[in-house]
Amino acid sequence: IRCQSTDTKEPKTNGNLLDNASNLLTNFLSGGSLGSMPTAEGAVSDLFGKPLFLSLYDWFMEHGGVFKLAFGPKAFVVISDPIVARHVLRENAFSYDKGVLAEILEPIMGKGLIPADLDTWKLRRRAITPAFHTMYLEAMVKVFSACSEKMILKSEKLLRDKEVSSGEDVIELDLEAEFSSLALDIIGLSVFNYDFGSVTKESPVIKAVYGTLYEAEHRSTFYFPYWNFPPARWIVPRQRKFQSDLKIINDCLDGLIQNAKETREETDVEKLQQRDYSNLKDASLLRFLVDMRGVDIDDRQLRDDLMTMLIAGHETTAAVLTWAVYLLSQNPEKIRKAQAEIDAVLGEGAPTYESMKKLEYIRLIVVEVLRLYPQPPLLIRRTLKPETLPGGYKGEKSGHQVPKGTDIFISVYNLHRSPYFWDNPHDFEPERFLRTKESNGIEGWAGFDPSRSPGALYPNEIIADFAFLPFGGGPRKCIGDQFALMESTVALAMLLQKFDVELRGSPESVELVSGATIHAKNGMWCKLKKRSK
Ligand code: HEM
Repeated sequence: IRCQSTDTKEPKTNGNLLDNASNLLTNFLSGGSLGSMPTAEGAVSDLFGKPLFLSLYDWFMEHGGVFKLAFGPKAFVVISDPIVARHVLRENAFSYDKGVLAEILEPIMGKGLIPADLDTWKLRRRAITPAFHTMYLEAMVKVFSACSEKMILKSEKLLRDKEVSSGEDVIELDLEAEFSSLALDIIGLSVFNYDFGSVTKESPVIKAVYGTLYEAEHRSTFYFPYWNFPPARWIVPRQRKFQSDLKIINDCLDGLIQNAKETREETDVEKLQQRDYSNLKDASLLRFLVDMRGVDIDDRQLRDDLMTMLIAGHETTAAVLTWAVYLLSQNPEKIRKAQAEIDAVLGEGAPTYESMKKLEYIRLIVVEVLRLYPQPPLLIRRTLKPETLPGGYKGEKSGHQVPKGTDIFISVYNLHRSPYFWDNPHDFEPERFLRTKESNGIEGWAGFDPSRSPGALYPNEIIADFAFLPFGGGPRKCIGDQFALMESTVALAMLLQKFDVELRGSPESVELVSGATIHAKNGMWCKLKKRSK
């Protein structure tokens, strides 16, 4: 790996043809016409061996909050600075699209919100946002606890069987796989009222969902997009399988959409939001979107929306729970503190929307897990027009010219572990979110202050002015953030209510891999024991 800082003159871009042509040439020769931006030069071998986001952290420490990563003629801009991240995500959000991410996801999600072009996105975001209203979230908390209960009952049965067969009171489980099943069941019921039942069984649809996720991950980590070559879908076995997995899921979703449309009851949005959710047979997002008056959507768009939420809401939440047990098992005193809170608030009962407000420590655990293991660790953008970046927190100079078509990584991982914004940035300290702190005087960055977001149940990007981005920020911020946070809170509380959890091996033996999310290469194998109270 060769890393170096360059300090060449910035190219002027006044928009005339000659300047643009000369910029393009410089761009090609220097791995991107990004002027005086510090440069980390990567070797192709950097792309293998360890996840890219970890290498980006080392380069961040060396080159600062805005640098160019050059691989031969190809250059990416890497942003680990809150002021610049805020500019890209919020202040100038519509000067960017999802670039390479959209290219990877479009064959799976079509025109769903994540890869959608701006025109489609504006229409669909406006239509889908009202579906995540308070009554819906309240109803979903019941779904979260019913599904978590099934996972708990299954584990309790395994423990009983083990005690009978061998007299031992401990079982070993890959909790990553368990959480993945749990999150799939929850997202199926809440988004389209479909019971995958994956905590307790296998089915062709479940296999197809996993196959599709696996392919999305393959595509996001494979550097040559051979799947765009049309015959690949017939010749390459994994691409053939991908096509057949997609067909299975699409047929399933099409059937559900057809069914929802046949039983449509067109209603105004406000009325839909005031329905008696405690008695609704089908409280799903699909029901809401189909019943909503005044929005005509074709089946294809609906299917894309559902598929997007299925993928976006499944692996991410499963990863939060997985890293929660990883971090907690290394901090038994924090498990005790969490369990004391659970006992005081829930006793033996299940969490409710109301009781969740009192599970403060569990909520802080969830956000602290997202700080240390953000899902995804990198946000991806591409400039739609030439852009000028603002200056950064550590004197990174303003005015870097970024040509149209430049690929950008916003490293949420770097921001979340930046020593400039967080005390002991690599330590697991849920309590840190309770500290109050005034602006630290950095020009253009408001500092860390939880009181800046009054009434919010969970700390968000506003409290640290874009140094904390667990769900992104600006108009394309995650639409399911509160849903996911509540889901994680309920599942974690119910697990710790019943069990003590330890890692099976050492923390160092857990190997990280990352596709869209960070996960454990060989699963998160844990020892589960009935809680000793
Ligand atoms: C977008 C994270 C759960 C649906 C995003 C983004 C992040 C994120 C960081 C912004 C991406 C970007 O700016 O490029 C997470 C995490 C989750 C989670 C960490 C779980 C802990 C969910 C759930 C759903 C969902 C449960 C749906 C039920 C979406 C959608 C978008 C999105 C539709 C695209 C929003 C848009 O572009 O308008 N998510 N998400 N996510 N998420 Fe989530």
